[in-house]
Amino acid sequence: MSRGKAASNLDLPRPDTLDVGKQQGAYEALRSAILTRQLPAGSRLPSTRSLAERWQVSRGTLEAAFERLHGEGYVQRVAGSGTRVCAVIPEQFIAAPAAAQPVRRPVEPDPPHAGVQSHVPFVARRPDASLFDLKAWARCISRGLLAAGPGVLEAAHPGGLPTLREQISDYLRSYRGMHCEADEVIVTTGIRHGLDLIARTLLQPGDTACVEDPGYTPAQRLFSLAGAQVQAIPVTAEGLDTTRLPEYARLAYVTPAHQAPLGVTLSVSHRLALLDWASRADAWVVEDDYDSEYNYNSAPLAALKSLDSNNRVIYCGSFNKNLFPGLRVGFMVVPKVVRPALLRTLQLTGHSVGATDQLGLVEFLGSGAFVRHLRASRQAYQARRDALLACLPEGVTVSGQQAGLHCVLWLPAGVQEADFCARAANAGLSLQPLGKFCVDVTLPPAVIIGYTALTLAQIRFHGRALAQLL
Ligand SMILES: Cc1ncc(COP(=O)(O)O)c(C=O)c1O
Repeated sequence: MSRGKAASNLDLPRPDTLDVGKQQGAYEALRSAILTRQLPAGSRLPSTRSLAERWQVSRGTLEAAFERLHGEGYVQRVAGSGTRVCAVIPEQFIAAPAAAQPVRRPVEPDPPHAGVQSHVPFVARRPDASLFDLKAWARCISRGLLAAGPGVLEAAHPGGLPTLREQISDYLRSYRGMHCEADEVIVTTGIRHGLDLIARTLLQPGDTACVEDPGYTPAQRLFSLAGAQVQAIPVTAEGLDTTRLPEYARLAYVTPAHQAPLGVTLSVSHRLALLDWASRADAWVVEDDYDSEYNYNSAPLAALKSLDSNNRVIYCGSFNKNLFPGLRVGFMVVPKVVRPALLRTLQLTGHSVGATDQLGLVEFLGSGAFVRHLRASRQAYQARRDALLACLPEGVTVSGQQAGLHCVLWLPAGVQEADFCARAANAGLSLQPLGKFCVDVTLPPAVIIGYTALTLAQIRFHGRALAQLL
């Protein structure tokens, strides 16, 4: 190992990498010489003056490359004694010792969860991510990050970035008729995250949690996991049958805008009855507003939460359905009295949305890009819905098609759901039988049809196959 002031006798020929970019090329060539021990630990690098002559680059270029190597811990620079390779190079501090024979097997993707693949006819409740303007999103993320600075990235905001909570409350005031403030909003990774927080925080083993029947199965499962007794309440043409609610319960979970899966809208009289019940029973009402942005025939009713003068409603919304499913951002609007407890659970699990996505969304909402996307996707989904309905033979009954991302196709008398779905599967169609959503009720045979994540051509092609099965 060479020590002292003697110049390195190592031969460092002019590297080809210099032709691509001088400073980066010089840095890469020197780093590679260090890693391959051509420049061993303790050896002295040639002076920038001699190397500049040999490599035909400026001393400034080499000075910058040496500084970068110094900044990353490859070399030490001591005034008067030149630049030396460090005894321990940074790779040895940050990487595990290399395995004898590094093996990298191809990653097996997780099998898609049954019933949730996009672009498979007619998988329900999937948005079409290809309608989303990725370039606009990338610009929003970069603008958001650059404007934020390290302070925002370091600070802990368990309930979500204040600027995002403000944007969400502005949106909910204008579009869902809710009088909510930013400090009532909690940013989540989606509606299921909100339901999980509610279940963990507000339910005790043995509590009664009322759900719609038929209804959204994950909600039932999450309430059961928390030890609650799930009580299934039938759904009528006006939504949840409020006359069937028990005298006491800890909560009732509802999908008022477009009942999941029947697609009916909770009528105003049932909304008021539900809120009266919640006050009498001292229960929470959990409002899942999962696809309320998409209305095809008329303006939507305001959210149930907008009528909540007694602060009984916990509202859950999501960007995963209207932007793209992989985004994983949603939100809750919660009465002030339960906010601290929900935040404690949230902090405990450490399960929250990254600052980058939150900053991107602040820009996306604030710039008007979000509402533009809603307008364009609503238009596209309406055309897809119309194309689907046009494929179906006369006399077939469809419901719930006035809104949302799916509708219900009622099967002709005598046709069994299981048999129909099996025949559909043979024709390449993936249909969900209504029976899968039922707890205690028995309903006439029907299937759930999603149309939003399919192109018009796919809908026409597969719609013909569906019609032939009826
Ligand atoms: C009724 C209902 N609520 C919530 C969700 C899930 O929302 P998120 O992905 O935001 O958890 C779905 C998904 O299909 C749904 O159908």
